[in-house]
Amino acid sequence: MTKKVLVILAHPHLNQSVANRQIAEVLKNTPDVTIHNLYDNYPYFHIDIKKEQTLLKQHDIIIFQHPFFWYNMPPLLKLWMDEVLTMGFAYGSKGEHLKNKKFMLAITTGSEQMAYSENGYHGFDIHNFLFAYKQTCQLCQMQWQEPHILFGSRKTTEEEIRNHAEKIKKHIITLTEAR
Ligand SMILES: Cc1cc2nc3c(=O)[nH]c(=O)nc-3n(C[C@H](O)[C@H](O)[C@H](O)COP(=O)(O)O)c2cc1C
Repeated sequence: MTKKVLVILAHPHLNQSVANRQIAEVLKNTPDVTIHNLYDNYPYFHIDIKKEQTLLKQHDIIIFQHPFFWYNMPPLLKLWMDEVLTMGFAYGSKGEHLKNKKFMLAITTGSEQMAYSENGYHGFDIHNFLFAYKQTCQLCQMQWQEPHILFGSRKTTEEEIRNHAEKIKKHIITLTEAR
């Protein structure tokens, strides 16, 4: 049986987006993928926790897609994590609903890759900023996938964004078809 994919998309101004809008468009047309747009669903930040937990249970591969904001995720996604990934659901002795699901990150940055280095503008390799995601994934017993990062997204061409999105799509298809 093929696996089902939930893309949790968090962009506060998707209508002004260049990169994430295009990436979401490609992922939307990938078999077995559901795009769950958080800012569309919860414009007033009132998250339906039960609905979100049910959605998570119904999918095998969970993807966070968002622009990188202050080395982190947009605020509604952080609130979603705080409220939805509860003890007894996502972690803790009885919290095994996410166990063995695969977790993938698809983010876009404003800065170019060389800015994310010891001598660069941001002082660290980008993976240093992703440790909290990785440990969250481990705590919830999910399987971490190599993240997809589109650097310098405001300087990339439409074709580069499309190629990047196609790579994510390919990765998703590999995961959905794996036994
Ligand atoms: C509030 C805010 C914080 C941001 N923080 C970062 C950051 O920490 N690092 C970075 O590389 N880009 C940062 N950016 C740039 C965004 O990541 C970039 O504009 C976005 O990835 C472009 O994607 P989009 O075309 O889908 O909007 C920030 C932008 C905003 C609005």
